[in-house]
Amino acid sequence: MKKLFIGTNLKMFKNIEQTVSFLRDLQERTKGVPRSEMCLFVIPSYTALESATKSVSQDSIKLGAQNMHWESQGPFTGEISPLMLKELHLDIIEVGHSERRQLLGETDYGVNKKVLSACAHGFTALLCVGETGEQKDAGLSEETLATQLKIGLLKFPPDQLDKVWIAYEPAWAIGATGIPASPEYANAMHKVIKQTLKKTFGDRADTIPVLYGGSVNYENSSSLIVQEAIDGLFIGRAAWEAEAFTKIIDQVLPLWKTKILAKV
Ligand code: PGA
Repeated sequence: MKKLFIGTNLKMFKNIEQTVSFLRDLQERTKGVPRSEMCLFVIPSYTALESATKSVSQDSIKLGAQNMHWESQGPFTGEISPLMLKELHLDIIEVGHSERRQLLGETDYGVNKKVLSACAHGFTALLCVGETGEQKDAGLSEETLATQLKIGLLKFPPDQLDKVWIAYEPAWAIGATGIPASPEYANAMHKVIKQTLKKTFGDRADTIPVLYGGSVNYENSSSLIVQEAIDGLFIGRAAWEAEAFTKIIDQVLPLWKTKILAKV
């Protein structure tokens, strides 16, 4: 069965102890869910990563970093290299989150270098794309997504597409002041993403999961996951307590299975 992808980015929240306790609690609460049905992942802060890898099994919860420099080493003060992250045996590198694009000057071409480097070092690249509110209001959502994807995946080796996940996270939907995208709008943008990937990579792109993120919570998670083109959820605030996160998982997984089985 095609797996449900569901995960959370802890952003600049939770210290080492809080991260470890969250992960252990989440692993315990979700131990009854077969991982053949669900890929569960958590992306903690750098300082908590080493303890995180020691506290849970990555067969149960995959772990990732929130960013990475593209070079293996060099005079890049304050940056973290792929080799350093490899030492921790992580699975995922998140690239191009809208907070990094908007607040920290990340460009599509910089994102591309990180995606290629993550792939070259054997990580799964979780490429985040999404339009700003201004772009949406100007009718530029589709063009923005296509540009971010085409540049973000420039020269990406097609035989390694199983190491790419996409998160559609409209910037206007993220965070405490965000307004969640309607399920219909999110589905339409997921279709644009899938069409763009297909135009670029052909049928090989069919396996790339496209996750929705931006103010996902218990209340809206069901209506999002039943949408045809949504393959998973990338959640922020609403997933930062293990009990609340597990409630979302327990609610959406049966809906996901029904959707997938109906397609077969
Ligand atoms: P949010 O964060 O769910 O708190 O809006 C989503 C994200 O930034 O990935």
